[in-house]
Amino acid sequence: MPTDEPLDLPFRPRRLRRTPAIRALVRETRLGVDNLIQPLFVTEGDGEPEPIATMPGQFRWPVRHLVEECRILAGLGVPAVNLFGNCTRKDDQATEAVNPDGLVPRAIRALKAAVPGLCVQTDLALDPYASHGHDGLVIGGEVANDATVAVLREMARVHAEAGVDWVAPSDMMDGRVAAIRDTLDEAGHTGVGILAYSAKYASCFYGPFRGALDSAPRHGDKKTYQMDPANVREALREIELDIEEGADVVMVKPGLPCLDVIRAARDAFDIPIAAYQVSGEYGMILAAAEKGWMDADTAMLETLTALRRAGADMILTYFARRGAEHLRGTAP
Ligand code: PBG
Repeated sequence: MPTDEPLDLPFRPRRLRRTPAIRALVRETRLGVDNLIQPLFVTEGDGEPEPIATMPGQFRWPVRHLVEECRILAGLGVPAVNLFGNCTRKDDQATEAVNPDGLVPRAIRALKAAVPGLCVQTDLALDPYASHGHDGLVIGGEVANDATVAVLREMARVHAEAGVDWVAPSDMMDGRVAAIRDTLDEAGHTGVGILAYSAKYASCFYGPFRGALDSAPRHGDKKTYQMDPANVREALREIELDIEEGADVVMVKPGLPCLDVIRAARDAFDIPIAAYQVSGEYGMILAAAEKGWMDADTAMLETLTALRRAGADMILTYFARRGAEHLRGTAP
């Protein structure tokens, strides 16, 4: 029965949702351009940027174009980019990963010269360089831990010499953070940071990324090094070890499937935490939007805010440029 008689309510939570101004005042979680890191794929040659079929709106950037894209990102206030090399000279030793004149070192040099204020981060793992597609060296049919760490040390040194700000080991080998820290310090690169992929799960959400770099494992899967999505205590143990080994920032990946892991890490540790909204999360939103089932920008902002609410300080996301344009009101 509709009635004009007001209920006798001491608390009316809807009062704080009445207007956009009031909602802004009581908003608990802020998402800012400052929180975003744009992953970018760099490729050989001097041609046009190549659209990535599995990741609409993302490109493989020749270095010249990468620099232009990074100028735009920096102009929008995006503080950092994270580079992946699209290696075309793959072999079973991932030789190209440690070439000082390789694609990624050249990209780092070009970016630090042209956009010096931008924080340049690079992925450290062998999969884009290895013909077998695994993150480490394969010895006797197994992904070998310690032999891989020796290569990662060298890769970190090469990137540091090119001027990288942070290296981001994404391979999940044991002991690599301490080894990389040791090598960097030994070479005088005490200011180069380590963004450790500490809790990285064996996830199907990386599928579109492997399409971008032609890096899907040719045999087996990554479950002997990436974590079982069923585990959270193990994630905290991994993070604890990486902090002890000298990680500056720890990462949880993927993002939205791991909100509880991010929250548990936030409650347990006080160092900065990164979340990675991975290729499959990006693709899910764009695919649903293409079907008319969701609005892409709204889903972008809602998911990025959820990652911040869970406790992430910074977010690697393919939406970084689009998010920055949206947040700054310069969206096309
Ligand atoms: C490889 C690496 C992967 C991603 C980041 N670094 C793929 C994998 O582990 O197979 C995934 C990123 C994404 O899906 O966006 N070391």
